[in-house]
This record gives sequence, structure tokens and C-alpha cells, in this order.
Amino acid sequence: MPPGRRQNPETAWSGDWKVVKSLVPYLLEFPARVFFAMAFLILAKVANVILPIILKGIVDGLSGETAQLISLPLALLIAYGLLRFSTTFLGELRDVIFSRVAERGMRRIGLKVFSHLHALDLDFHLSRKTGGLSRDIERGTSGIAFLLRFMLFNIIPTLLELVMICAILLFNYSIWYVVITLAAVVSYIGFSVVVTEWRLRFVREANQMDNNSNTRAIDSLLNFETVKYFGNEKYESELYDDQLSEWEQARLKNRYSLFALNSGQAIIVAVSMTTMMILAASQVVDGEMTIGDLVLINAYMIQLFIPLNFLGFVYREIKNSMANIEQMFRLIDTDPKVSDIEDAAELESDGGAIRFENVSFGYKEDRTILKDISFEIPAGDKVAIVGPSGSGKSTIARLLFRFYDATQGSIYINDQAIQEVTQESLRKSIGVVPQDTVLFNDSIRYNIGYGDTQASEEQIAAAAKLANLEQFIEQLPEGYDTVVGERGLKLSGGEKQRIAIARTLLKNPVIMVFDEATSSLDSTAEKEILGALHQAAENHTTLAITHRLSTIIDSDEILVLKQGEIVERGTHRELLVLQGLYAELWENQQEEVDVEG
Ligand SMILES: Nc1ncnc2c1ncn2[C@@H]1O[C@H](COP(=O)(O)OP(=O)(O)O)[C@@H](O)[C@H]1O
Ligand SMILES: [Mg+2]
Repeated sequence: MPPGRRQNPETAWSGDWKVVKSLVPYLLEFPARVFFAMAFLILAKVANVILPIILKGIVDGLSGETAQLISLPLALLIAYGLLRFSTTFLGELRDVIFSRVAERGMRRIGLKVFSHLHALDLDFHLSRKTGGLSRDIERGTSGIAFLLRFMLFNIIPTLLELVMICAILLFNYSIWYVVITLAAVVSYIGFSVVVTEWRLRFVREANQMDNNSNTRAIDSLLNFETVKYFGNEKYESELYDDQLSEWEQARLKNRYSLFALNSGQAIIVAVSMTTMMILAASQVVDGEMTIGDLVLINAYMIQLFIPLNFLGFVYREIKNSMANIEQMFRLIDTDPKVSDIEDAAELESDGGAIRFENVSFGYKEDRTILKDISFEIPAGDKVAIVGPSGSGKSTIARLLFRFYDATQGSIYINDQAIQEVTQESLRKSIGVVPQDTVLFNDSIRYNIGYGDTQASEEQIAAAAKLANLEQFIEQLPEGYDTVVGERGLKLSGGEKQRIAIARTLLKNPVIMVFDEATSSLDSTAEKEILGALHQAAENHTTLAITHRLSTIIDSDEILVLKQGEIVERGTHRELLVLQGLYAELWENQQEEVDVEG
């Protein structure tokens, strides 16, 4: 949140207006419920306004000059009781009927944010702070529910009650009561608005601090192993406590400013009530009013200031909710950097020939990672990319998958530019076994089945067999039901990679990308798997990224990448003859094999 963004009241109000408008669809989803809730609300308010009139009748009946204490005003007392009950009961009815609207609204908005987060680009997710993000979403959704309830049920009815009370005071008593009431209400509201606006910055600050400490805590817990390896538990606690102490400060400031608000409001209420009572008492003394009238006026005042006081609270909460919702909307308004063009075509799925034409790319403008990359993989062929770490191999795979758009040049699949087809159809055609496999904290079955959520038990088992997982799963006490731990941390690197391979085989796309897919396996396991992959790759176009050259000798073409440029290309034989970088890498790895063997 850029500080000072709220300085201009116009933008503040238009932001609020936008939030209010966004709520209308949720209200319209259940028009009947909204209508009945409103009806009960109005009835409750009417009952509330009649109450003091009955009370006046009772008091006058008991204290009049011709008082006959023998005749209790029984009818009035019973009416009083009934009215009291109905004000509460009608309120309950209203809440019960409306809760559906609010809960559904929360559900809708929760889903909307979730889907939107998945639509955002990789870059957003690489730089997101999970802890803070989840807090923003939490606060935003509960803010929506709060707003839905309180917009309708407090501001409007309190105003309604105010009008009714003023009308009764005006017709039956001195105009001064109305003047004092209105003056009190106006100054109360004015004061609340000004002070609440001022306080908002403390609320925001407290939220930001809350996000920071939560981000810190989550990140620290995710890195549990690293913390232990370096014995930095205390250090982590200190860092977390630093964040917590800032949060504490922010919340304290928030609390102090609340004190100022509440005290100011109490003063306004006390002064106006006292003035009213003095006026009323003097009129009773002068015989212009009965004791019952005084009780009535007092009751109205209390009755008016309770919701008004509540209105102060509600206004404050509404502003808080608005701030929270706005933060969440900012998330929804973040446009994905990669998006489908209008009328994007479907990618023709058969064949799967790939062509890179003069592709250049950088994650940031000031650093180019790939420079003028051109190559072609005819349908069904296998091309390998080798090169030192950091040369841009994985980046090529990410561009093909359209996690990012190329800065220059184009990428084609079957002569269709990938920017002109839907992301969905593009990604359906490409299977990626990534360099670092992360798994869902669920069973092995779930993780393999993720490649095709409709797959049968047999298909999952077949994929596991192809990926050389059968033996491993058999020896697990819980077999396919074994839960792999958060991010798959309960498995070894090789096991994770094999699960990743199995689920990609299950997906069975026309194009397969292996990004160092066997790097965590020992040479025996690698050989076995490569056999399987070889089979699987028969009917696929394959892009294999690797640093172990022995696995790609059979490729139709090998591209040697160095600092984002293709420096050599050809078959294994041709490259050896060339006596360049590839030949050098090959020599080195042969020596290693000799030493090992
Ligand atoms: N999201 C990112 N933002 C900025 N730079 C990145 C990002 N991802 C990778 N890089 C940088 O791009 C370069 C190429 O990365 P990569 O393609 O992963 O290399 P490799 O050939 O080892 O697979 C590296 O120097 C890396 O630091
Ligand atoms: Mg890589």
C-alpha cells in the first residue's frame, strides 16, 4: 500500500463506492430474502418507536392526579412486554433470513479470488508472500460479509428511526427537542467520520504489520530444515519477535486512537442528553409536560443514541472492511501478464512440431537471458538442450509452456503461434517433468492421478510401473495411500522425480519436456527409467534438458547453450567431431565414468 494514497477524499469515496457497487450482485442473488429481511427490520424499528409511547401511558396512568392505584394499566403493560419481545425476535428473524445471502456472498468471493490467483502469471507467484496473501484474503472475505450485513441493517434503519422519532417529537412537543436531537446527531456523525478517517491509517498499518509477521512465520516454518541445519531457531524467533513487536506497536496506536474516538462520542452524547433532560424537567416543573412525557423523551434519546453509538462502531468497521476489501480487490484487479488474445484458437493437438524463431527473452528488462534462439523439432523427434547451469535451459521450457511471453521472436507449435492459441489447449498438449518436483500433501495415488484426474486405478498403476515406481510402492506399508508430506518432503528426490514422471506419462501429451528429469536418480535407476521414457517418447515430440550427456546421445539434434546463446548444434557424432564445448563436456563426463567404474 503506497502511503498517502488515501489523502484525496475523492478517490477514497469513489473507491468505497466501487466496493459498495460490487456487493449488489450478491444481494440480487436472493431478492426475496433481502426483501423479507428488510420488512422484518422495518417492523422491528416501528415496534421500537412505539415502545416509549406505551411507557409514557403506563407512567402517566400510575402518576396522574386522579391516580387510582387499584387499576393497573394491565393492557398497556402486556403490550409493552409484547413489543419488547417483538423488537428482539424480529431482529433475529431478519438475521436468520439474511445469513444465506451473506454466506453465499463469502463463498462466491472466496472462489473468485482463488480462481484469479490461479490465472495470474508465474512471476506473481514467484514473488508472492504466502503468509501475507492468505491474511489479505481472509480479511477481505469477512469484510464482504460484514458489509453485506451492516450496510442494510444499520445505516438505513437508524436513519429511519431518526426520522420517526423526530416526527413524534415535532408533533407532540417543543421544536427544541428536534433541534437538539438533530444537532446531536449531526455533530456525532461528523465527529465520527472525521476521526475515523484519521484513524484509518493506523488500521492499515496494523494490517500491514500483521501481514509481515505472518509472512515471516510461514516462510520460517517452510524452511524448517534449513533452520535446523544452521541451528538458527533463536535467530528466527528474534526476527519473528521483531515483526511481532512492530505489530504490537501498530495495534496499540490503533487502540489509542479508538479511545479518542469513543471518548469524543461519549461527550457528545452526554452533553446533548443533559440538555434535553434539563429542558424536559423544566417543562414538567412548569406543568407543560407530564412525568410520562419526560420518560418518553428520555427513552427516545437512549434509544436513538444506542444505535447511533453503534453506527459509530459500524462506520468504523465498514471503513475497516472497505480497506480490507479494497486490498483484496487490488489482487483481483491485478492483470495476468500472460493472457489469451481475443478469439484465441484451440491448438491443433496432433503432431506437435515445435519451432523457435529468433526468440529473445529476459525476466527483467535490464538482463537478457535468451538471445536470438532459433531451432526446430519436427513432430515425433527428440531434441536435447545441454549447457552449463544458468545458461537458460529451463527458461526455454518455460517459454514453450508460456509461463512467460518472449520479448522478441515467436514460438510455433504445428505452425500455430503459441500466443494465438488458448493457454488451456497449449498446456494440455505439453507435459513437463520439472527440475524440482513439488508434490501435494496427499497420497501417492492422488499425486500420480493428478496427471489425469479421470484416470482409473489401473491406468495409475500402469503409469507408476512405467516410471519404475512399482517396487517402491509395493514395499510401503500403506502402498498407494502413503501421504507424501508437505511439498513431498517425505520422499527422496529420486522418488519425487519418478512420481513426476509417472503423472506426466499419465497425462500423455503430444509434447514431452524433461527438465533434468532424472538428475536425482543414480545411474542404475536412471538407465531403467530412460528405457521407459524412451518407449514413452516414441509417439511424442520430446525436448530433453540435461547435464548428463550419456542420456541424450540418441537425440535427433543436440543444442549446446551458453549464456543464452546456441553456440553449437548437431548430432552427438557431429558435435564430437567439432571438438568444441560439447566435446569438452563429453570428455569430462567420460573421465568421471571411468573413475566411478
Ligand atoms: N523468475 C526469474 N526472475 C529473474 N531471473 C530468473 C528467473 N528465473 C531464472 N532466472 C535467471 O535466468 C537465468 C537462466 O535460468 P535457467 O533457465 O533456470 O537456467 P538453467 O540453464 O540452469 O536451467 C539464471 O541466471 C537465473 O538466475
Ligand atoms: Mg534449469
